[in-house]
Amino acid sequence: MKVSQETEKRITEMLSEMTVEEKIGQMQQISYESYRPEVFERFRALGAGSFLHVLGEEADRIREQAKQTRMKIPPIFGIDAIHGHSLCNGAVIFPSQLAVACAWNPTLVEEMGRVAAREVNADGLDWVFSPVLCLGRDTRWGRVDETFGEDPYLAGTLGKAITKGYEEDGLVAACLKHYIGYGEATGGRDSYDTEVSIRKVRETFLPVFRRAVQAGASSVMTAYGSISGVPMTLHKELLRDILKEELGFEGFVVTDWYNIQSLRTNQKAVESFHDGVRLAVEAGNDMSMNTYRFYDSAIQQVKEGKLSMEVVDEAVRRILRVKFSLGLFDPDKKRLSRNVIGSAEHIAVNHKLTRESLVLLENDGILPLKTKPHRIAVIGPNADDIRAQYGDWTFFSHPDAAPEDCKPLSDYYTILRGVKTVFSDSEVVYAKGCHIMDETSDAMLEEAVALAESADIIIAVIGDCLKQNGEGRDRANLELSGRQNELMYLLKKTGKPVITVLVNGKPLCIGEAVKNSNAVIETFNGGDLGGLCAAELIAGNFNPSGKLPISFPRSSAQTPCYYNQYAGWHGGKYMDVEAGNLYDFGYGLSFTSFAYANPVISSDTANAGDVLTVSADVTNTGDTDGYETVQLYYNDRYSSVLTPEKQLCGFSKVWIKAGETVRVEIPLEVNGLALIDAQGKTVLEAGVFDIMIGGNLNSLQSMELTVESTSIL
Ligand code: BGC
Repeated sequence: MKVSQETEKRITEMLSEMTVEEKIGQMQQISYESYRPEVFERFRALGAGSFLHVLGEEADRIREQAKQTRMKIPPIFGIDAIHGHSLCNGAVIFPSQLAVACAWNPTLVEEMGRVAAREVNADGLDWVFSPVLCLGRDTRWGRVDETFGEDPYLAGTLGKAITKGYEEDGLVAACLKHYIGYGEATGGRDSYDTEVSIRKVRETFLPVFRRAVQAGASSVMTAYGSISGVPMTLHKELLRDILKEELGFEGFVVTDWYNIQSLRTNQKAVESFHDGVRLAVEAGNDMSMNTYRFYDSAIQQVKEGKLSMEVVDEAVRRILRVKFSLGLFDPDKKRLSRNVIGSAEHIAVNHKLTRESLVLLENDGILPLKTKPHRIAVIGPNADDIRAQYGDWTFFSHPDAAPEDCKPLSDYYTILRGVKTVFSDSEVVYAKGCHIMDETSDAMLEEAVALAESADIIIAVIGDCLKQNGEGRDRANLELSGRQNELMYLLKKTGKPVITVLVNGKPLCIGEAVKNSNAVIETFNGGDLGGLCAAELIAGNFNPSGKLPISFPRSSAQTPCYYNQYAGWHGGKYMDVEAGNLYDFGYGLSFTSFAYANPVISSDTANAGDVLTVSADVTNTGDTDGYETVQLYYNDRYSSVLTPEKQLCGFSKVWIKAGETVRVEIPLEVNGLALIDAQGKTVLEAGVFDIMIGGNLNSLQSMELTVESTSIL
């Protein structure tokens, strides 16, 4: 987001003409809450700065109404376009953020952002509440599906890419959320306190936001929770000093849903509602999402001299800046035709990305299938459940859950439909086998097993359901729920080969199911084409390349199990669970294999500001062409504060033909090796670093790099 000096001048003029009511009106966002029509009407008439969850023609009506107000300031329309314009039935529904992170493909993720921006724009809206830049490090948390996984570098790279995709064509504004540390609330419980120091925030969470701010993000959303007891809504240091000053963020900050009201009602951080309003604005929140009493309270406090006009003016300036940069004042503002929604071109991007989002976790050699089976039994609770496959944040769940019989208008493929389509010469039979949350009868299991026995091959589709993911749906138990493990055991007992497809919001403890499978494919929430791509993978129509952006624990209480934890000295293992994760970050199989040789770093000494190149020969040693994601990690051998033994600092996804060798080069920014010291400063400490390259965490080749002098960055 950038506006010219001329626009800044125009904003100054507007501010000098605007009344207090008009200014505070700009700072108010109203959501489309059908149960409070009178509130909605009032703000429509007075011209609120923003509306949320309004779709299509309703947005046009509100826009027209704003033209009748004195200042004629257009509203900005926000929408939770979380994986595509997913609240709009008929739009392209991409896999969840967690799923697309498996592709390790910033170019395609940027393209996903561009497609969503086009569809949102065509629907008459301007502002997407995406991307989620929280880290999925505590997998009990209900919103892990919305993250790009556990690693700050990967999440930062993909966050930057999708932000660019959203913003670059000037069609919509992005919103980075939830600022900050929200994903790591105590016990993985949504909106609870995050017990971390500012040092930790700077080290782990802030870099992700920094990169997306640099990519031009227009807005940031304040998280629900608190950082070590200070509500994020009142966190002046993080909102003003760090985000706006240090990071140079010029867009505006919007609170999350009812944050201001919750300061009193939930967090009990203020005794009076008015204090909450004033302190939230002073802390750096420029727009209030809902909390519609904000409007009257803020006006009153400005008039009484309690809330400074200067602070209000700065907030309104930021909001107007974004409106100008989006061209909202321009009568010829570019609106794409509604025909782009769900267009073939957009579906093609989704198809590519969904293929790359699948992770092959296990394969005893059964995949790709060598012969077309005569009869395939597709069994399992998620085999034909598009709600589970979509996951959270579609028209099925927001803003009001769609009725049970609602059908997506897009050409969507459940796993069952995908198998029927790809294996059109085979006979495909289906049974649900068990429920995920409801009671399952013995008869239901038996029917599925009998069907499985009649087939040549079983495709078992298990995982979790919509009710087990999302806000307020944190899980203490990450085991497969219901009788799913029993179903898997019985399927295996038939003696038929079992290919398991996982449809789930986040890593579950799938050890038992893995034991009962010949191959396992992770799809997470695969969107419209998850089912088609899973079937194409099974048939060998493409070579899988996804790698996990998040670690899988063996048992629920083993979480958090993210890879880049600090070392202790008792082995880091629980006495009652096998050591290590079931699957590590960065893991994923291919139909081919890759060998690494001749790793070289362009210099074995470096200083702050240097950019080196790390390279290696990567050979496709199998007989199938394929993508390899080459990963680069570092370790600061001795450091003044603890640092991880392995931390991702670069990657490159390359296509390598069977039998060929490619020299892969990855840039290494030496400043990226800095740490946050005990005083909170960013310091590159002199000493030896191990620079490691390879295809996964457990088979890396190491080189030494000496940083010659200590520098404060
Ligand atoms: C969520 C946000 C979302 C907002 C608006 C909140 O409940 O935390 O992620 O953007 O609602 O729907």
